[in-house]
Amino acid sequence: MLRVGVLVSGGGTNLQAIIDAVNTGMITNTSIEIVISNNPNAYALTRAKKNNIDNLCISPKTFEKREDFNKALIKKLDEYQLDLIVLAGCMVVLPAELIDKYENRIINIHPALIPSFCGTGYYGLHVHEEVLKRGVKLTGATVHFVDAGTDTGPIIMQKAVEVKWGDTPEILQRRVMEEAEWKIMPEAINLIANGKVQVIDGKVKIQE
Ligand code: GAR
Repeated sequence: MLRVGVLVSGGGTNLQAIIDAVNTGMITNTSIEIVISNNPNAYALTRAKKNNIDNLCISPKTFEKREDFNKALIKKLDEYQLDLIVLAGCMVVLPAELIDKYENRIINIHPALIPSFCGTGYYGLHVHEEVLKRGVKLTGATVHFVDAGTDTGPIIMQKAVEVKWGDTPEILQRRVMEEAEWKIMPEAINLIANGKVQVIDGKVKIQE
């Protein structure tokens, strides 16, 4: 059983897609052990509660020093003896120590086709605003392992989504979620849970 912890910050639709995929058996060999949010008002926490998944808020704002927040977060994650940490709309910069400790055991969903529209400042709706400004015809989503950089880790899965004339950032965000994010995130977890994902020289090999 792959023991998964999910870090969230907002609405949690990606979390919901993972929960649904576990419940329907699309994801196998997996249990969601804990959901942690940095934002006490994140609807993602309610989604966890509704599904009887342990959940809590650990916010950097409630700690005097960032170092203390980092320690509390790592301690909690360690307690749950997780095999995989999933960043599902997590807007917090993770401690370097955590990334080191969980090398190739943290994955993130990014709402664009990396290496386009990624890196510092590219998160949430901003990504889609920049996509529309540039006028690209294809965007999409990427699931990747998390390394020390911003959106630089090995890419596990990507899916392209069409940009349409007249899209607003909100409309495009929704299409990217529906057509890409909610599909590739559960698929990637299922592949990892079933031992099909290998990192070789910074690249991901998926066993057929
Ligand atoms: C998603 O679009 C996700 O790709 C993005 O935030 C949204 C969270 O939505 N993540 C990032 O931008 C990370 N850099 P959700 O809370 O409804 O899953």
